[in-house]
Amino acid sequence: MIELAPSILAADFARLGEQIQQAADGGGTVIHVDIMDGHFVPNLTMGPPVVKSLRKSTRLPLDCHLMIENPDQFIPEFAEAGADWISVHQEVCRHLNRTLQLIKDHHCLAGVVINPATPIETLSEVLEIVDYVLVMSVNPGFGGQEFIPACLRKIRNLADVREKRGFGFRIEVDGGIGPATVADIVRAGGEILVAGNAIFAIGDPKINAQRLLKTASEATLQRV
Ligand code: DX5
Ligand code: ZN
Repeated sequence: MIELAPSILAADFARLGEQIQQAADGGGTVIHVDIMDGHFVPNLTMGPPVVKSLRKSTRLPLDCHLMIENPDQFIPEFAEAGADWISVHQEVCRHLNRTLQLIKDHHCLAGVVINPATPIETLSEVLEIVDYVLVMSVNPGFGGQEFIPACLRKIRNLADVREKRGFGFRIEVDGGIGPATVADIVRAGGEILVAGNAIFAIGDPKINAQRLLKTASEATLQRV
């Protein structure tokens, strides 16, 4: 099943509640929240207090993408603030199994994220315990970057491994998703589509979301 996860990083923060509602009216079913620490990625965004406010303004699941070092230190706080899904980067976790377990212990869905330069093979030992794998299709840190086409092969390979080994995780894709790239991503096996600028940068978030989802659904019929 295809789901659209609008990324609030590109939204107008002064009208966040309203913008989330518009994206949800257009078919967005998961709210993607980008947490950046200025160390793992060269940008700063938001923390648990913002998640706590978001929790009050939407019933949709909050998908917290942690682009931070030492995620173990903050997972309990994000869960407490109202996160439903929490994903951590493979590149920062020295004890990835433990960190994923910590997320599950806090009753959140556990995801693992890989940067464009990180091979899917690095996830081989955790694929059976994760609820979703987030494939970055840009180098994390900023919205509005160009989609890296080499990531399509990773998505395809991940879908193949899942089928061969009988796993149940879902495949989320993040970065540079828009009308021009979404069909290829869906055909490769992308299921949860994160989109920031394509939804919030120009025009009406509701119409943008509807259009993107329409293109995505049509592409499911062309999966190879
Ligand atoms: C990038 C973030 C993305 C970002 C995507 O580091 O993880 O979620 O918001 O933005 P767009 O859709 O504009 O590429
Ligand atoms: Zn993200």
